[in-house]
Amino acid sequence: RVSVLANGPATLVQRYSAKLIKGPVQTVVQLPGNYLGPILNFRQGQKVRVFFKNELNESSIIHWHGLHVPQHSDGHPMYSIEPGARFVYEFEVLNRAGTSLYHSHSHNLTAEQVYRGLAGLITVTDSDEQRLDLPAGEFDLPLVIQDRSFDSKNQLQYVHMMHQRMEGFLGDIILVNGKPDAEFRVKSRAYRFRAVNGSNSRIYKLGWDDGTPLTAIGTDACLLAKPETRPYIMLAPGERVDLWLDFSGREVGSRLVMYSLPFSGTQPGMGGKGMRHNRLPQGGKFAVATFSVTEKVGDSPALPESLVPFQRLSQADTDNPGKPLPIGLSMQAMRPLLNGKSFAMDKVADFERVALGSVKNIRIFHDHEMPGGKGARHEANAENHENPMRGMRMKKPMDHDNGGSGGHKMGMGGGMMDMAHPIHLHGQQFQILRRVTDKVRDSYASVREGFIDSGWKDTVLVMPGEEVEIIKPFQDYKGLFLYHCHNLEHEDLGMMRQYLIE
Ligand code: C2O
Ligand code: CU
Ligand code: CU
Repeated sequence: RVSVLANGPATLVQRYSAKLIKGPVQTVVQLPGNYLGPILNFRQGQKVRVFFKNELNESSIIHWHGLHVPQHSDGHPMYSIEPGARFVYEFEVLNRAGTSLYHSHSHNLTAEQVYRGLAGLITVTDSDEQRLDLPAGEFDLPLVIQDRSFDSKNQLQYVHMMHQRMEGFLGDIILVNGKPDAEFRVKSRAYRFRAVNGSNSRIYKLGWDDGTPLTAIGTDACLLAKPETRPYIMLAPGERVDLWLDFSGREVGSRLVMYSLPFSGTQPGMGGKGMRHNRLPQGGKFAVATFSVTEKVGDSPALPESLVPFQRLSQADTDNPGKPLPIGLSMQAMRPLLNGKSFAMDKVADFERVALGSVKNIRIFHDHEMPGGKGARHEANAENHENPMRGMRMKKPMDHDNGGSGGHKMGMGGGMMDMAHPIHLHGQQFQILRRVTDKVRDSYASVREGFIDSGWKDTVLVMPGEEVEIIKPFQDYKGLFLYHCHNLEHEDLGMMRQYLIE
């Protein structure tokens, strides 16, 4: 059905080239016939140089999501390069072992460029991981999950409808590693699958249909202290989870289907099920991939009891205990905002200036005050006028965004317009201190067991009615580092800000 995908004129990836000049030959692995970028395999301590050549007819820049790199190499949209230009990235891999991704980060163009293929998987290994003897080689596989839509000529279709901007883009075909109807032929032993949500806005609730629990050994860019087993695992855009899938004891011929199980509560509206514009609504149930056991083998590595222990941070480890930096999520006149503000390339608020080396307590919450708050609103609008970005592709989506009626009206007072936002912070990974849910929502019950908050994270799904407190170090590099919603339509609509580390 989508066999022309890799070569079709609608995909950008053919014209994207990344070349690495240092490191082992195995650093770059191209998946055959795939519209995703090549897999980059790094090891901690490696010094990397990447040449990025923009052969598109619009500006672009690549961000290494999960890697802790200097500002210049972080893919901040200020570094977007024009068609025909080249950008050289240089960084040392400081990260510990884990799974990351890279993708386009050109402001206002991120969602569509990622959609059309400007994304790929990154793995990092280190000596701690190598001591663990985890499944490797053919038993360590990517599981990059994306939803896409195709037109009658089987070309990627990215629709700019108003509701799709607010809800985010939802496709009706699920691709795994760039292919629909993904099937893995596996041996009867344990595997490591590096699940990456590379979708623009779709959230997955990964689980086996028969209720067999799932075991995670890593979240975002890091291995966990010890494996965690859950009935299902939530995976929001930008998040990763390293799964330990054990097929030992399974007979040849058995087939297991990994689903995204039904859930609700992530979208605005009474039932929390969102507007059903799409054939595959957010929270719908569908198959993600099939695993067929094709060979019986005698032995399998055992799941380690402990992985990579690390210190859990507490309020006392931060320099602002009890006075968290705010990340207020709001929706105002159909525009999603952070702390009442839209992204502006050259703007940093007072609370976004952070001293190099500090460790901050940060609170991410749904802000029901902000939309009506005049000060914040005016500041946001002023910033938008000064926004130096040119070449905005978006058709002007919010004609009624001209003061007066705050978006909160639609919220009917109880935050009914809140949606789930996957919030991502660039730079170093953070720890999740706690989640507070304002009241027990029925819908929350369908997702709550699927969060793995014990490890290092760089993206966290904040549900409606929920606030999340995190602890984040700001070490090593000065400069501007973004934080934003990883619903890519929201990001392009301006739900992005930056810290100035100084
Ligand atoms: Cu994955 Cu700032 O992005
Ligand atoms: Cu990132
Ligand atoms: Cu969002």
